[in-house]
Amino acid sequence: MWYDTIIGTDIAVAKDLLVRGETVGIPTETVYGLAANALNEEAVLKIFSVKNRPHFDPLIVHVAEVKDIEKYVEEIPGTALKLIAAYMPGPLTLLLKKKSMIPDLVTSGLDQVAIRVPQHSLTSALLQQLDFPLAAPSANPFGYISPTSAYHVYDQLHGRIPYILDGGPTEVGVESTIVGFENGETVIYRLGGLAQEDIERIAGATRLQTNNSSQPHSPGMLKSHYAPRKKLRILGTDSREPENADHAGFIGFDKADVRFKAENQILLSVKGSVKEAAKNLFAAMRLLDASQVEMIYAVQFPENGLGKAINDRLRRAATE
Ligand code: TXA
Ligand code: MG
Repeated sequence: MWYDTIIGTDIAVAKDLLVRGETVGIPTETVYGLAANALNEEAVLKIFSVKNRPHFDPLIVHVAEVKDIEKYVEEIPGTALKLIAAYMPGPLTLLLKKKSMIPDLVTSGLDQVAIRVPQHSLTSALLQQLDFPLAAPSANPFGYISPTSAYHVYDQLHGRIPYILDGGPTEVGVESTIVGFENGETVIYRLGGLAQEDIERIAGATRLQTNNSSQPHSPGMLKSHYAPRKKLRILGTDSREPENADHAGFIGFDKADVRFKAENQILLSVKGSVKEAAKNLFAAMRLLDASQVEMIYAVQFPENGLGKAINDRLRRAATE
């Protein structure tokens, strides 16, 4: 099916399409999602086919409000309740035991569903008007960089989806943090827009389990993911000088690097804020990927706050 993809701000149009089982690009505070009715398997199948996503990679379910979570999950552990009270709506996804009304296709057969309450006025208003939750992965082809603007979605998915709800550039810029609970332990499966420190302030110690494995809990955990097409290398992880610096792009934090041409450099936050850097990261990767440079170098960011999520995305982008 070929669509004349429209970018707009009309919630009624988005609603009508979703009710009819179509997919729609939606803004969230983290990245744009490719949404469909989570309770309609045929609609969910369209998400997998538009993204070229393998069926073993489960989808996050988005609900309008905190009180809607219990409609779709069997139980909410105490620590989860505390995290919900502190950080939802927001860039946090929880893995909780699903009710049977959530199709196995959504969870790839797992008995837990990933659920979150996005914080974006347009998408919240849309979810309020629907009588079903929205399954939505990031609105990019599988393995590529997540979109942080409606234009990014259009760039890659135009023709394949009917409508993109334009909510402007996203505030947070990296995907939600994914948290689960195993034998009384709080486990972080994907670093993201809510910092580990913020989670630990409420939940106590956490275990990071974001390594790749052949049976990933979260294929966002796959070693190579979030990747530009060009080769990306992280500076300072070894003593190698950048090769071919004249034809390479540079993603820096707050300082330029004289080894690269000025026009090929993007600084993510001249004021040195990891939060601002996270917001700008994916757009910078896309810009350099689309530019004339032959490869991309990036610095390592401070390992605190959202700096950890930035480094995680850069490492996965650097993995071949
Ligand atoms: O910020 C976000 O989380 C964005 C916006 C659109 O909400 N969504 C997003 O979705 O990043 P996606 O599909 O690109 O990444 C979701 C990750 C995947 O790595 C998936 O494997 C994992 O969440 N996931 C989803 N459901 C799961 C489940 N039931 N158990 C374990 N992991 C799950
Ligand atoms: Mg994704």
